[in-house]
Amino acid sequence: MLVCSKTKDTGVDLKAVILVGGEATRLRPLTCDLPKAVVPVANVPFLERFVAYLHSHGVGDVILAVASDPARLERYFGDGRRMGVHIVYSPESRPLGTAGAIKNAERYIDGRFIACNGDMLTGIDLTEMLRLHHEKQAMVTIALTPVDNPTAYGVVETDGVQRVKRFVEKPPAAQVTTNMINAGIYVMEPEVLRDMPANKFLMLERDVFPQLLAAGKPVYAYQSQAYWIDIGTPEKYLEANSLLISGEVPVGISYASREGDVLIQGPVAIHAGGRLKGRILLGKGCVIGEGALVVGPAVIGDNCRVGEGATLEEVVVWDGVEIGSGAVLRRCVVASESIIGEGCQVLEGCVVGSRVHLGRGNKLDRGVRIWPGRVIPPETISF
Ligand code: GTP
Repeated sequence: MLVCSKTKDTGVDLKAVILVGGEATRLRPLTCDLPKAVVPVANVPFLERFVAYLHSHGVGDVILAVASDPARLERYFGDGRRMGVHIVYSPESRPLGTAGAIKNAERYIDGRFIACNGDMLTGIDLTEMLRLHHEKQAMVTIALTPVDNPTAYGVVETDGVQRVKRFVEKPPAAQVTTNMINAGIYVMEPEVLRDMPANKFLMLERDVFPQLLAAGKPVYAYQSQAYWIDIGTPEKYLEANSLLISGEVPVGISYASREGDVLIQGPVAIHAGGRLKGRILLGKGCVIGEGALVVGPAVIGDNCRVGEGATLEEVVVWDGVEIGSGAVLRRCVVASESIIGEGCQVLEGCVVGSRVHLGRGNKLDRGVRIWPGRVIPPETISF
């Protein structure tokens, strides 16, 4: 059964193509054994949060453009019913790039649609964006978001009436004319796909949008000041988790009880002398040991054990992680079912993949990454 909803402005069923076929190399080792879409953000798979956002703006049908076998994603998201949408999977025989992947999903498109990168969280008002698109009779409308330093992004120049003039990919600092970058959300008319060659690697900003501009087609920009954060790197991933639990953005964080700033998702055991300070999301089944200290913003998954006297500060820890007594974790990510030995230090920007066993007394600092399943003997690493 197709679960349908209507856009708020036009009353028409709305479809969204979400691009989830990238390799997510920058997020490794978190994405060595897990698609980026399933990486949890504030203890919920990223894509689930993103689909909820799209659904709140009237998207009823989701097409997941995947660059490989969709089985792993299907296992998690199925037909989408649980999330109130209908999901279909559009696999590519090899990665086709952002535009090629949308073209590959053309058989599912029968009218105006949304296309978006599957690696950011945002409050951009899609309903307003659709309204602008409709009003301007645009062929493509691109959401723009401001960033402090646009030199690492695709910058989009517009005129006084929001029509797009030019795309500049990663401009050198001296040539920056605007801080508005492509937010990776588009409203498109199906005509955009018509002239694109099938089964060819194509990128939107390189192979499609400039050609539309050259042909004088109406390409518009929707400028938004709403929050926008991509989860492409471990630093951004930590930031996204902090932002979501901060309460500063209207995102659903579910919890069973609350003690001050601490959101608790089910039964937990906090031993005498265990302290939790600042905004913390604590998964169910966690045990916080005697004298342990957790300082927020911090997200801790289900069934984690924090040993006696351990200190965790600004961390994201996934489900089933064991942290030995006296260990210190600061501004790092630890993936599922890893064991951090007694007295270990895991510091600034370090990422520990899933099922790692870090023997006692190891010290990881300055962005060290440990691949899934590795066993590190005691006192082996010190940097
Ligand atoms: P990095 O390897 O870390 O750069 O990550 P990424 O490849 O996931 O991100 P990138 O910024 O290159 O891609 C932006 C979005 O487009 C992400 O949501 C990707 O999943 C998606 N994407 C990139 N290339 C492809 C592709 O060939 N096919 C599909 N279906 N999606 C793609």
